[in-house]
Amino acid sequence: MNQDTIAVIDLGSARTTELARAIRALGVYTELHPHDLDAAQLAAIPNLRGLVLAAGPRRAYEGQVVEPSGALLAAGLPILRVDDADAAQPDLDAFVAQTGARRNWNMENFIADQVEAIRAQVGGKKVLLALSGGVDSSVVAALLIRAVGKQLTCVHVNHGLLRQGEPEQVVRVFREELGANLVYVDASERFLGKLAGVADPEQKRKVIGAEFIRVFEEEARKLEGIAFLGQGTIYPDIIESGTKTARAVKSHHNVGGLPEDLRFALVEPLKMLFKDEVRACGLALGLPEGMVNRQPFPGPGLGVRCLGAITRDRLEAVRASDAILREEFAAAGLAGKVWQYFTLIPDVRSVGVREGVRAFEWPCVIRAVNTVDAMTATVERLPWPLMERLAERITHEVPGVNRVLFDLTPKPVGTIEWE
Ligand code: XMP
Repeated sequence: MNQDTIAVIDLGSARTTELARAIRALGVYTELHPHDLDAAQLAAIPNLRGLVLAAGPRRAYEGQVVEPSGALLAAGLPILRVDDADAAQPDLDAFVAQTGARRNWNMENFIADQVEAIRAQVGGKKVLLALSGGVDSSVVAALLIRAVGKQLTCVHVNHGLLRQGEPEQVVRVFREELGANLVYVDASERFLGKLAGVADPEQKRKVIGAEFIRVFEEEARKLEGIAFLGQGTIYPDIIESGTKTARAVKSHHNVGGLPEDLRFALVEPLKMLFKDEVRACGLALGLPEGMVNRQPFPGPGLGVRCLGAITRDRLEAVRASDAILREEFAAAGLAGKVWQYFTLIPDVRSVGVREGVRAFEWPCVIRAVNTVDAMTATVERLPWPLMERLAERITHEVPGVNRVLFDLTPKPVGTIEWE
């Protein structure tokens, strides 16, 4: 490994992530660790140069005040003690200088280190990756292609609930531009069949999730000699469950639930990166800007935006209105500025009039929100002319839609998605 490390030790601080990010911003690689590291775990941290002991309001754990382990204190490393209760900001820059850690945390070094690590882990064996086209799986794919090239097989399952142009972009970028082995599976019909008549949101998610695993599994069984499974796990997926004083255990969005004989060893090269670093890594690997900076998109896709039981015509109306919304946001310079924006179509109809004839059609709801962590969200104030243009285009270009509504509800009370 090229990079030096400073470890932030969680003694109940609510700001461990912030501290880690601030040290990385100074150019030094950081990792978060629990307070009870033993000597062996400490020795496994590459090029460790210093410790930040980060105390705070969650320091009491199961009635005990959390103390740094003996191994941490005996390591002889420079230590900076910080506490959320202190008004003064810690001088991280001075501490970094004191540790002598090299300020060489950057994407080139990260990629070089990971290419080396992936090659060492994988050797001459084969790797399989479920490539959804989302930011994380796309960046893992690009990194694995750089490291092991043709030893990688990507499987892109189109569940029929992707946005307009998405499956085509995945095929173009990965198969044609990056030369990956890409298995493209159009399973749209199969998913729509399984979802027929399923109206409950959680049931829809279950059906989509289970079917996804089944299709992926079928493809995996057709391939010979796979030893590893690539995964787009990123740092926020693991840090909340990584330390004893942390609050919640997050469940991973990644491909779980594979049968035992298909549980390959994992390759997770992004697991130490924050989301913006994942994006920077993708750009450094040559992925298109639009793929790397795209807005969050739920795993069940447009399926949770075609409310209630999914029908083909209403699903197409969601897809077409979403494409118009994205086009207009891009034209208005809002694409990279608003955190998440989409359309949805409820399963209700209202009376309208189209060319003098009664039109009994669906409304299309526009949602545009900003948030930091998706736990709370505020509504973007769209310019009125843009709203008018959206109403005009969607009612004229999307079959079956005769009204356009704008959702004014912040989260809470409304969640970001409607289902
Ligand atoms: P809510 O609707 O809970 O959404 O306010 C918060 C964020 O999570 C996304 N979301 C999902 N992502 N699978 C996902 O991968 C899901 O089932 C799912 N449901 C919601 C949502 O788009 C928003 O960014």
